[in-house]
Amino acid sequence: MGDSKIITPPPGPKARKLIERELKLLHQPSIDRVYPIFTKRIDGAVVEDVDGNRYLDFAIGSGSMSLGGAPKGLVETITGRAEELAHGSYPYLNPAVIEFAEKLVSIAPGKTKKMVAMLSTGSEAADFAFRVGRGFQRKPQFISFIGGHHGFSLGALALSGHYAAMFRNHPHLVPGVTHTPYAYCYRCPFKLEYPSCGLACADYIEETLLTTISPPENTAGLIVEPIQGPAGIIPPPEGWLERVYEICRKNGILYIDDEVFTGLGRTGKMFAIENHPKIEPDMMILGKTLGGGILPVSAVIMKEQIAMSIEPGATSSTLHGYPLGSAVATKVIDIIQTESLLASNTKHGKHLMKRCLELQQKHKWIGDVRGRGLMVGLEFVKDRKTKEPLRKEVKDIAWRSVQKGLIFEWFGLKGNVIKLYPNYFVTREQIDEGLDILDAAITDVEKGRVSPTNFDSAYVVSAGWM
Ligand SMILES: Cc1ncc(COP(=O)(O)O)c(C=O)c1O
Repeated sequence: MGDSKIITPPPGPKARKLIERELKLLHQPSIDRVYPIFTKRIDGAVVEDVDGNRYLDFAIGSGSMSLGGAPKGLVETITGRAEELAHGSYPYLNPAVIEFAEKLVSIAPGKTKKMVAMLSTGSEAADFAFRVGRGFQRKPQFISFIGGHHGFSLGALALSGHYAAMFRNHPHLVPGVTHTPYAYCYRCPFKLEYPSCGLACADYIEETLLTTISPPENTAGLIVEPIQGPAGIIPPPEGWLERVYEICRKNGILYIDDEVFTGLGRTGKMFAIENHPKIEPDMMILGKTLGGGILPVSAVIMKEQIAMSIEPGATSSTLHGYPLGSAVATKVIDIIQTESLLASNTKHGKHLMKRCLELQQKHKWIGDVRGRGLMVGLEFVKDRKTKEPLRKEVKDIAWRSVQKGLIFEWFGLKGNVIKLYPNYFVTREQIDEGLDILDAAITDVEKGRVSPTNFDSAYVVSAGWM
């Protein structure tokens, strides 16, 4: 007996009624509900819907509920400290905000003194780094990566290089960003192979961009995810981030590490960049896990010199330095430390990877399996040689999995990557149960056992975004 249990095929009667109401009022693309599931409660890794179905959740609020649903300790922080801390923070400050900043700085990598800005979303943190980076450097340009996802607000969008619908009718309105290829080795844009490529895509930054359209004299910063998350869980090969960092150092460019997805333990280190000890980012942006998926909390950790360059009044927002958010974020870090979650993420991550590699042995559609710790992506192709993306089938597998009790996100630059990121308290048994469901769902779709989605009108199909 596992944790998942489907008692009425989703969407059940209560979900259907909610869909009817939802479609009249809510703006689908901004709400972004992929599946016709309405939650009743989320407990750990298990989502219970309004019709009584129970699903294992490997999508966890797009990577934010890293401590699971209703996590012990966090819920108590909110309920126990609400009276004391649930208030605005302007024009005064609550000690909880200082405790939060002390905690963040205490875990930040590198020896240089750091300071913290507290914000609400990952997008806001990306905007902040973009704007403050340019102001500090007194230079107008930035470099970012194809496939990079930094958010939807204007600055963050300008830095992003993800899927076309983000830009089709909303072109980059903030000028000055040059996008360069990421080290997506499975589909190398230079058609080379690692390691014989000699990290050509990193060299391209120095040899081509910096000598043409983004000269060092104009280039304030470079923003990079240590593993591209939304683009399809893409870890760069060994030495690549170090080479990019070296180019930044040599040319006076700020190195900005986007840890919104990877940060606070997902890869088995507190920050994914700690897997690369030679790198000390000038700025780091955090979000998602920082608020435990309970409150919107984000932050920028930056070198003191950068923070001190910001003019008073130049950056702020009504709820910046929100005391309850600070207390929750401090508690998230406390829990990760006291419950030894970095070690267990490494251990469970190895098991998750092993099970995914076994799936690859069994199913010829799985062309690539990659990731680190508790973030693994499986890229589906028609043929392992041609690597033609398998898109519709991936959507069918996702839906089949939901019908069998497993929730995950799928997407990636070609719309063909299944992305698995369970919460940090996931058990080995839950990983096995989830992978067994995925295995069965792939087999069903391979054999043509696909039940049509009877809710297509309500279904925001990822492939439709492209
Ligand atoms: C790496 C990365 N950076 C930034 C963001 C934007 O964060 P938010 O959605 O909280 O604005 C995301 C969101 O998916 C992300 O994955």
